[in-house]
Parts: sequence; structure tokens; C-alpha cells
Amino acid sequence: MPQVVLVETFAESKRLLKSKDHHPISIADQYRAITRRLGIDFSPTIRLLELLPVFLHGDRHAEVRRTMAVNLTAARSRQEPAAQRIIERLPSLLTPGKTLDLVENFVNPLWEALADANSTTVAIPPGLANEAIELLDNRCRLRERVQTNERIREFIESEPVTADQRLIVLGQNALGKAPLTGTITLSLHQIFSANLGKRLCSIDYPKRFPVSAIPVTDRISAGYNVHSDANTDQVTRCVLHSKKFSTEERDELLYGVGEHACLGRPISNAVWSMITSALSNLESTIVSAELTLETGVPETNEELLAMNIFFVKTGALKVKIGS
Ligand code: HEM
Repeated sequence: MPQVVLVETFAESKRLLKSKDHHPISIADQYRAITRRLGIDFSPTIRLLELLPVFLHGDRHAEVRRTMAVNLTAARSRQEPAAQRIIERLPSLLTPGKTLDLVENFVNPLWEALADANSTTVAIPPGLANEAIELLDNRCRLRERVQTNERIREFIESEPVTADQRLIVLGQNALGKAPLTGTITLSLHQIFSANLGKRLCSIDYPKRFPVSAIPVTDRISAGYNVHSDANTDQVTRCVLHSKKFSTEERDELLYGVGEHACLGRPISNAVWSMITSALSNLESTIVSAELTLETGVPETNEELLAMNIFFVKTGALKVKIGS
């Protein structure tokens, strides 16, 4: 495997993300290598990975990105009202004396409403988008990879809509879930922890997410070939979100820049505005906010380099409401 080096300054990260000489790593190639080594047929997984624009480059990337952009733009008019219906539950969730997990009771239902609104023609089997994203985590066990691969195979074969259309919707949901739910959870936790005991309506909410669940992304120099003995090549891990950046710099790189800039940015920003405006109308206070994480939030260079997957996996956000 190539060596991973960290680029931690804003200017250098931005330059690399915009550079034509660097492109994303191919996870599909990593599955091809497993097939060559172990003889396991990962073709459904490879087909899905080759429809995730975040890991593609060149003409194929442009083609898939265009299709996803058209889908997501069409979904926008359904997504905002769907999100609003869940956000309207906040006053009854955050009533004095209650203790609840905001991820289970609010953030996950909000995501499910957005994901359902993503497509009216393709039903994604429960949990499959989550399982699909685990295929990117290099700690994922081979047995789990094989199981998910088989679920993707069944999904491709099970309905009349063409396989690629179905995989595009699965891909959108797989790419959107962890970044959006993680970023909302981490951001609410930071805001609540900094304002314990203060009325929700008197908090000064930031216009953009103050914390990101995607602190890094990887790039590799163009021409890299996974089939060759590429030990001499380097993966460059670009920092996207860091306490060391100014607020403006964090806002600029939150969704990436250049050819791979996030397609979920408009809906994610709209959802954040809806959440903060709903919270701004509430008189209650948060007495305690306890976050549990499946992975830590990387802060040091060593932690950023050691990340096995590009995003922070969040668990529960347990809050206690005061009067
Ligand atoms: C706060 C929430 C989100 C954050 C912070 C975020 C962040 C990012 C970042 C940093 C990238 C670029 C990665 C790179 O350059 O390697 C990206 C790409 C992408 N995001 Fe998001 N994202 C969010 C929500 C969403 C949602 C809700 C969706 C879809 C429903 C989505 C779909 C995508 C897609 C399709 C790409 C790939 C674009 C391409 O490669 O051409 N994202 N996101």
C-alpha cells in the first residue's frame, strides 16, 4: 500500500483538492485486488463503487456526477417539506424534565425522511445504505463485506428499475447519511455543551455547521496504478475541517471544493437553517449533553493519519432538558 501523508494547512488542502494532477483513490480497485487474491466475486460491490462519484475521476466521474446532481435537484422540492415535518417535532421533544437521545429521536428520523424523499421509484432495503458505507472502512471484516456484497446483488436483481438507477440512489444515500447525521450531531453537541443552562432561544447559532463529520479526504497523484507495485507513490490526506482553520476557512472547505464538491450541500445547509430557526423559538434549556462516538473525533495529526474511514462515526447524543 502507498504511504499516507497529511496536508494540514488550508491553502495546501484547497490547492490539492482543485488540482488536476490529483484524483481520488479507487476503492473499486481495492476490491478487484481482493478478487484476484481470494477469488471472491465482488462484482456487485465494484459496480456500486463505480457509481460513487467521490471515488471516480475523468469522464466517468463527470457522467455519474451529472446523473446524481439531476436526481438530487429533483428531490429537493420533496426533501425540504419532509425535513420540516421532522424538525417540527423539536418543541415536543425538548420539553422540560425530559431526557432523550437526540440521534435516535431526531437526527436519524430526519435522515430517513430525507432518504425516502430522495427517490420515489426505488426502495432501499433497511440498513443497506449503512452497510454499503462500511465497505469503505478498512477494518470491515471479510465476512461482512461478502454479506453486504450479496445484499447488493439481491438489490440489483430485485426490481424493475435498472440496476444502475437503483445503485445511484443507494449511492446517494450511502454518501449522504454519515456526513449529514454525523455533522448535525457533532454540531448540536458542541453548541449545547457551550451553552448549558441557557435558554435555546437566546443562543447565537452559527449560520454554518460548526463541526464536520468529514475532517479529511484522500487524493492520489494522477497516473497512480493500483495494479503496479506502487510503494513509491503517496496518498495525500487533505484536512477539510480543523480547529486550526478560521471560521471562513472551515466554511469554505466543509463540503470540499473543485470537481468533487459535495452535491448534498444545498439540502444540508437548508436543513441546518431549519433546525437552528426551530431551536431559536424554544424557551427550554439543555442541562446536559452527552455524546458517545463509535470512533473518536481526530484532532492530532497522528489521529488524522490513523483514520480508517473518512468520517467520524457518531453514536448517541443524550440530552437532559431543563425549564
Ligand atoms: C453536512 C453534511 C455533509 C458534509 C459535511 C459533506 C461533505 C462532503 C465532502 C467534504 C465531499 C467531498 C469529498 C472529496 O472531495 O473527496 C462530499 C462529496 C459528496 N457528497 Fe457530501 N456532505 C454532506 C452531506 C451530503 C448529503 C446529504 C448528500 C446526498 C444526499 C451528499 C452527497 C455527496 C456526493 C454525491 C458527493 C460526491 C461528489 C463528487 O465526488 O463529485 N453529501 N461531501
